[in-house]
Amino acid sequence: MGMDGTNAYGRADDWPEPVGRALRAAREHGFAQSCRPEQGRLLQVLAGGARVRIGESGTGHGVGLAWLASGAAPGVELVSVERDPDRASAAAGLFADRPDVRVLCADWTELYAHGPYDLLVLDGGGQAKGGGTADPERLLAPGGVLVVDDFTPVGSWPPLFEGRPDGARLHWLQHPALRAVDLPLAADLSSVVAVRKHPE
Ligand SMILES: C[S@@+](CC[C@H](N)C(=O)[O-])C[C@H]1O[C@@H](n2cnc3c(N)ncnc32)[C@H](O)[C@@H]1O
Repeated sequence: MGMDGTNAYGRADDWPEPVGRALRAAREHGFAQSCRPEQGRLLQVLAGGARVRIGESGTGHGVGLAWLASGAAPGVELVSVERDPDRASAAAGLFADRPDVRVLCADWTELYAHGPYDLLVLDGGGQAKGGGTADPERLLAPGGVLVVDDFTPVGSWPPLFEGRPDGARLHWLQHPALRAVDLPLAADLSSVVAVRKHPE
């Protein structure tokens, strides 16, 4: 997410449902931190590879969840966790007609109780950015995919954040249980995409 993610979309009517519906809700609530369209398209593509279950930390007003839901195959379950009660309730209402989508009002750690996930998107807790660090070996199925959003593309190693080695990005890129890549999505936006290694 960028702080201006919600505004990066222009007209909500130009986006397919349920993305447009979630965007309208985010705007009505003055919520700026939705995922950007570049990230949304990545989530939509990756959701298509999930077979059983997709998880997300940090629902916000459901824009990223809408992209995931629009890309997931029929029968795939989506679980998204949001700690803010108003946001969780509004997002749950948006997906009331989708029994495959559950929005839980809880800390991100609640995701442990509902896994494992074929695709896990960390966008509100668990990203190793100060709000806890998710354990991919407990949360991901073998071969499962992890997405951690909201980095800035860099051309040097190690990646820097505010002039210092970017500990969160290094955590994911060097995680022994993962194969990971820092994927540029726009000039000012990249996501870490990782796959949980199969046990040897
Ligand atoms: C960047 S926004 C999420 C945007 C959303 N994923 C989207 O794509 O539109 C982050 C959200 O995470 C929530 N959040 C932050 N820390 C959390 C935690 N520890 N557990 C659950 N949710 C959390 C915030 O309340 C906020 O709504």
